[in-house]
Amino acid sequence: MRFRAPGPLRGSARVPGDKSISHRSIMLSALAVGESRIEGLLEGEDVLATAAAMRAMGASVERGEDGLWRVHGVGVGGLLQPEAALDMGNSGTSTRLLMGLVASHPITATFIGDASLSRRPMNRVIDPLSQMGAAFTPSPGGRLPLMLRGLCPAIPIEYRLPVASAQVKSAILLAGLNTPGITRVIEPVATRDHSERMLRGFGASLEIHRDEADDATVIELRGEAELRAQQIIVPGDPSSAAFPVVAALLVPGSEVTIENVGLNPTRAGLFEVLRAMGGDIAFANPRDAGGEPVADLIVRHSALTGIDVPPEIAPSMIDEFPALFVAAALARGRTVARGLDELRVKESDRITTMAEGLRAIGARVEELEDGLVIDGTDGDTLAGGATVAAKLDHRIAMSFAVAGLVSRDAVTIDDMAPVATSFPGFAALMSGLGAVPE
Ligand code: S3P
Repeated sequence: MRFRAPGPLRGSARVPGDKSISHRSIMLSALAVGESRIEGLLEGEDVLATAAAMRAMGASVERGEDGLWRVHGVGVGGLLQPEAALDMGNSGTSTRLLMGLVASHPITATFIGDASLSRRPMNRVIDPLSQMGAAFTPSPGGRLPLMLRGLCPAIPIEYRLPVASAQVKSAILLAGLNTPGITRVIEPVATRDHSERMLRGFGASLEIHRDEADDATVIELRGEAELRAQQIIVPGDPSSAAFPVVAALLVPGSEVTIENVGLNPTRAGLFEVLRAMGGDIAFANPRDAGGEPVADLIVRHSALTGIDVPPEIAPSMIDEFPALFVAAALARGRTVARGLDELRVKESDRITTMAEGLRAIGARVEELEDGLVIDGTDGDTLAGGATVAAKLDHRIAMSFAVAGLVSRDAVTIDDMAPVATSFPGFAALMSGLGAVPE
């Protein structure tokens, strides 16, 4: 598949619901007592894998004809033994968070996934959840397929996160829900805080404080928790908005509005960096949706300048680097992004995959162990004329779809199917703004 832009991008669009929040809304609703209703849920394959797993463990999770999702939970501690392996597809978030849930239930579950997910490291959750008493039989290297036997009651732990990972933090907190006593997570580097916000919203007892001496945030959850059913509104996903935003910045003459984008400060790093590069991005109608800040983004074509991306901003834009690298390839001067070791263990190795793909379409890129150095074209189109391997990685596929809009010859993406994991309707949204998929 390939995309081109015959003229400027124009118009308004809404991206689908936030993936991180969607996963959490199904999981917590499935553990609450009563009927929760979820509006704006992302109906992508990753979230549907979470929904199927919660059903397999006893919750009722259904989409109404009105588009609202209704979830009848089993109550904390009430998850049932699934009859078959839990198929996580491409979804690391489903896998790691559900491992947390299962770890403190008297359940044995097998987790399987696709080729991309089966290459990703699970020891980061196996280690803390083993300390809580769960028993794991992983494939070599701590990978899927793996079997997990939960312990009930589990043992509350204090755990200092060795990697900046919201998935690891969330897995431990979710395990803590059905664990008597205080489960404590120490977070030296802030990561997305959707779990904390939503746990509080569902009535869990959660204390968060700053330990200045340790320069870390301490999150304490008291189990066993009782969760009450909620009405949840899921904001638009900033990680999905990233693609039309970068496209509008790069395609000359463009002006687009992306409505209802989640702007939680732990997620909005990309927009800050693009603005620092000279990107014209305005935040209109700032408001609150379901305990998360949202706004409409008005984006106009801009001449971008390369930037040294401050490494401390990385966790708040960890999924947005592929899109940023495309923007950097068209900027004036050099962009340096380092401290990105985590990008090597996402749906693909996003440092190598982006370096190879960008080089193939004529960008000047140097690959570092922990990042990329990109010398931009100062607004000139890229050569294009190559086929890029998306490597089962939705964000790689969408990044090169955007790159194709500003390339002289077509950029062909070998496989757009992974886009359905996070952004069903991507091609339709882009064509609604004036891009042409072929
Ligand atoms: C996510 C956390 C991040 C992110 C992923 C979603 C989450 O992963 O890359 O797409 O929902 O908690 P890490 O925790 O591995 O950084």
